[in-house]
Amino acid sequence: MGKLENRVAFVTGGASGLGKAQAVRFAEEGAKVVVADRNEQGAMEVAGIITAEGGAAKGVAVDVTDADSVAAAVAAALDAFGRIDILSNTAGLFDQFKPTLDTDPATWDAVVAVNLTAVYTVTNAVLPHMIAAGRGVVLNIASGAGLRGGGGGAAYTSTKHAVVGYTRQLSADYGNQGIRINAIAPGLIDTPMVAHFSHDEDTLANLRRQPAGRLGRPSDVANAAVFLVSDDADFIHAVTLPVDGGLVETL
Ligand SMILES: NC(=O)c1ccc[n+]([C@@H]2O[C@H](COP(=O)([O-])OP(=O)(O)OC[C@H]3O[C@@H](n4cnc5c(N)ncnc54)[C@H](O)[C@@H]3O)[C@@H](O)[C@H]2O)c1
Repeated sequence: MGKLENRVAFVTGGASGLGKAQAVRFAEEGAKVVVADRNEQGAMEVAGIITAEGGAAKGVAVDVTDADSVAAAVAAALDAFGRIDILSNTAGLFDQFKPTLDTDPATWDAVVAVNLTAVYTVTNAVLPHMIAAGRGVVLNIASGAGLRGGGGGAAYTSTKHAVVGYTRQLSADYGNQGIRINAIAPGLIDTPMVAHFSHDEDTLANLRRQPAGRLGRPSDVANAAVFLVSDDADFIHAVTLPVDGGLVETL
């Protein structure tokens, strides 16, 4: 018996990296999964991986920065599986460590739109259905850059700090209506988002000095996500769990 039997999960950013890993792991634990991404082909491929393993999944094209697109994706999810029990806000955009003076307004707006405003938009689209059902779990993928400076650029670090705050406030406002909201703060994880520097010798040398001594794997985050969205974490609300090999606690 999986930890997520009879649950329906909606995963944004599900076509790649941490979203893909969560979608696949959630399905392994018995969840029916809606793989939502602006990369429609990627979303369909991940849904195909899940169904090929005997799971239930649906790929959905969505631009999380567009409220109409989000509403349509949520409607498609409800149409396919009847409800949404688990929302994982995972879609994100990196800003390549740009300091504020190197951040043009278009970059700032794009990063805020995906990493922060979209978390609000998708949550607001899903939460009423959870409240009506009397239960639900929201997991926001923040970042170590949401807990400390130095893990991203000005826009990325600002949005990830805001996601940590949003997680706390959602919990304060909706926790006692049967909704559990938490976040994960991944460290450096081996995904396409960071592939352009994560295997550099300098980066790997830095990682070797840290407690876990290695680059994170998408499965490291997906395993923590399964725990946080499952009933095993029933008494855990409003936390941002670092999954970073010990990085932020040993800086
Ligand atoms: N990889 C890391 O080291 C790391 C560390 C800390 C936090 N994170 C966070 O984890 C999350 C996932 O990152 P990843 O490493 O898997 O990156 P990734 O680039 O592999 O995947 C991100 C996914 O989000 C999707 N996406 C982007 N904008 C979208 C939009 N407007 N609408 C719908 N989908 C959109 C992309 O198509 C992609 O499939 C992000 O929020 C990221 O900030 C990653």
